[in-house]
Amino acid sequence: MNSKSLPSQISTSAPERKAMTLHRLLAMHRAGEKIAMLTCYDAGFAKLLDAAGVDVMLVGDSLGMVLQGHDSTIPVSLDAMAYHVGCVARGNRHAWVIGDLPFGSYQASTEQALLSATRLMQAGAHMVKLEGGGWTAPIVRALVERGIPVCAHLGLTPQSVHALGGYRIQGRDDAGAATLLAHAKELAEAGATMLVVELIPTALGRELTESLNIPVIGIGAGPFCSGQVLVLHDMLGVTRGRLPRFVRNFMSDGASVEAAISRYIADVKSGSFPDAALHGY
Ligand code: KIV
Repeated sequence: MNSKSLPSQISTSAPERKAMTLHRLLAMHRAGEKIAMLTCYDAGFAKLLDAAGVDVMLVGDSLGMVLQGHDSTIPVSLDAMAYHVGCVARGNRHAWVIGDLPFGSYQASTEQALLSATRLMQAGAHMVKLEGGGWTAPIVRALVERGIPVCAHLGLTPQSVHALGGYRIQGRDDAGAATLLAHAKELAEAGATMLVVELIPTALGRELTESLNIPVIGIGAGPFCSGQVLVLHDMLGVTRGRLPRFVRNFMSDGASVEAAISRYIADVKSGSFPDAALHGY
């Protein structure tokens, strides 16, 4: 029987893409499939990213710099994050959505973190992200125990830019690398099911990825991580001025926005982005 003679109720089109779940992300990680993540802040781009097949959209507090024009992420409010999470959730159908807890929304207490995470989950996030290690482990445990999946964020943690002395590479010396590894293991033990690592040496990105059993998503952490994330406006060439070396402009060959996003996903999946020599430390 050829497809022309199939009864009309039998569809021959490709099966409907399934919505991403934590189970699927962890299965991808176990199978060695790279995870492609991009930041996203509104419904229009959420539709484009979703159609291109991005695995994870991060509603990052980078929106403070990218959309609001601040020179750091520190002024971003929880109200603004909840608003943008809602916009992205309404534009998205399939991707996993992470809502970033902004500065001042989880530092005071575990109770404050729970209330803030609740706001982002009710706005449409599937998981929340928070920066820092050590003091964050009990907060991560409390969120996870109450059914809120958590992505940790180590290395360069932009909310601590003034304490870190600027946007500098982290974990360069043995002591810094050892602390980072210890914090990462503690956060995974506390229940974090994903870790973003930012601006660290390629070798440390590899060691972290190999020593943890949760996906490690790199940004300026070399090609050996379980997946990659970039700020959308950076990889689309919208951001002006000097960009960190880990950024690649996927629009530079004159591609459309859709083609640039598809290329990013394909290059992360194949492992050809980032290139250690060009984008690593
Ligand atoms: O806020 C953000 O966009 C982030 C990424 C840079 C990882 O945290």
